Amino acid sequence: MQKDLLKLLDLSTEDITNILNTADQLKYNQKHGIPHEHLKGKTLAMVFEKNSTRTRVSFETGMYQLGGHALFLSGKESQIGRGEPIEDTARVLSRYCDGIMIRTFSQEGLEKLAKHATVPVINAGDGGHNHPTQTLTDLLTIHREKGEFKGLTIGCCGDLKFGRTVHSLISAMSRYRNIKVVLISPEELKLPKYIKYEVLEKNGMEYVETTSLEEAIPQLDVLYMTRIQRERFDDPAAYERLKNSYILDPAKMALAKEKMCVLHPLPRVNEISIAVDSDPRAAYFRQALNGKFVRMALILKLLE
Ligand code: CP
Repeated sequence: MQKDLLKLLDLSTEDITNILNTADQLKYNQKHGIPHEHLKGKTLAMVFEKNSTRTRVSFETGMYQLGGHALFLSGKESQIGRGEPIEDTARVLSRYCDGIMIRTFSQEGLEKLAKHATVPVINAGDGGHNHPTQTLTDLLTIHREKGEFKGLTIGCCGDLKFGRTVHSLISAMSRYRNIKVVLISPEELKLPKYIKYEVLEKNGMEYVETTSLEEAIPQLDVLYMTRIQRERFDDPAAYERLKNSYILDPAKMALAKEKMCVLHPLPRVNEISIAVDSDPRAAYFRQALNGKFVRMALILKLLE
């Protein structure tokens, strides 16, 4: 495995299988009270230029459960927010810690940090680009809910223009055979052309685009819902117009296959009605839990 995880395609399919299997093992150990303190004495620095709940808490609790320590640094409070070159942050943190996890505003900041750090660097989300630990979480959830990747029809719904989790998931699925992707979005939030050409078409993946969730849902094995992100819009009126484009509710779930599963990276706003939470096909809270085990598996591989 490479020193850093900056984007999902830094991992081979073998690496991914290995991480997913380790995540399962860690889940089993925790369920049965088997300690797995392989990171005793290790410290992970967690730098957040942008807020997080799931990524931060899953890494932090995961690190503690592996016997190590996690140090939280907010971008505002650390010297990065006061103008320290990120290269220096990398050099200094490498002398104190065994790994650095960072959520940045930009891919450029992340790449500079990784280049100058001598310890492993994990991307915890770089602006609108990549969020590889979320994608590992999504892969684990899809695999454990559906039993395999091959032959699945995956619907991605919502903000496909800015939604980095969708971009990463589509890239990840391009590694597997006979995947069909159904892209469900308003016209204004369609998947960027470069992903259609560079990922879907170059890999010969079948895909269709539609604006209708009702029309798409009956054919799906997996429905990946995303939030329309207020912070991505320069024009507040455009956000107001688009924010409720899709609301998954029991009536739409009634059109879906009995074994379809619903994923969402969270947070949700109102794109999935609370009434769907009790449907056994709603997998998004199981997905959030999987996120902790997958991150534990990753830090074990990189830091052990
Ligand atoms: N899904 C996700 O990345 O959530 P956070 O922004 O809360 O970490």
